[in-house]
Amino acid sequence: MTQTFTLITGADKGIGFETAKELGKKGHYIFLGSRDLARGKAAVQKLISMEIAAEVVQLDVTKHASLVDARTQILRKTAYLNILINNAGVAFDGHREPSDLPLQVIREDFEVNFFGNVDTTQVFLPLLRNAEWGKIINLSSDMGSLTLAADPHAPHYKASALGYQASKAAVNFATICFSKELAASGITVNSVNPGWTATEFGGRPKDAAKLPGMQDVSQGAARIVALASSGDQKTTGTFSDQSGELPW
Ligand SMILES: NC(=O)c1ccc[n+]([C@@H]2O[C@H](COP(=O)([O-])OP(=O)(O)OC[C@H]3O[C@@H](n4cnc5c(N)ncnc54)[C@H](OP(=O)(O)O)[C@@H]3O)[C@@H](O)[C@H]2O)c1
Repeated sequence: MTQTFTLITGADKGIGFETAKELGKKGHYIFLGSRDLARGKAAVQKLISMEIAAEVVQLDVTKHASLVDARTQILRKTAYLNILINNAGVAFDGHREPSDLPLQVIREDFEVNFFGNVDTTQVFLPLLRNAEWGKIINLSSDMGSLTLAADPHAPHYKASALGYQASKAAVNFATICFSKELAASGITVNSVNPGWTATEFGGRPKDAAKLPGMQDVSQGAARIVALASSGDQKTTGTFSDQSGELPW
């Protein structure tokens, strides 16, 4: 069997780290993307202590040069990448109404969640094309579903995070567009909603108690791990979570 190489952005903590751990246990070689080299190295040490093969790759998805440097580093190890997990994400909205949300905040959400996602995909696509099979998994959110946001019966109907929600809806559009372009190439592209998960996301304190209804991080990573480790190379252009397909 050939080695499976997997790159995960924003993987030094939260859902990204949990995904790295679970896929590493399944034998993937993990390129652990981290903005902060020291934090990334510490995370890789944890994986290595679990006998997982991994190395840190310093990258900031909003800095094109850092993505190109990361690709150069990965090319020193392997000519191909099987799986790219676009996990890095932010939410700077802070429960403000659309009329109170500074444009700059909306731009910052889009810089990471959408433009960073697309740039990362474009930079690593040549390595995915070099593999026998490839998968791109985009971390989206049910908060980015236009259908659910407009449905008065949906749980997030009253949520108000224009920058975050619009940027995740845009991620879903990237999934649709890339999945169509890559349909004949053996590379699948799917969006995943991890679900509401106890991480430091959106500035939540590290040691804050888990709120009722919040998942732990292993549940948050479950759908990503299932998609990444399945032998299914046909499912593409979908948006799903652990319960099944979600409306766009
Ligand atoms: N937690 C939830 O309830 C939830 C729900 C739905 C969707 N999601 C999605 O799941 C993904 C993972 O979230 P999480 O809950 O694990 O959050 P998290 O613990 O805050 O982790 C996010 C990761 O993204 C990294 N990141 C942020 N900006 C970056 C940039 N410019 N370049 C590279 N990395 C960057 C962070 O690094 P730094 O520490 O350096 O900032 C961190 O490692 C996100 O895309 C999020 O939108 C989460």
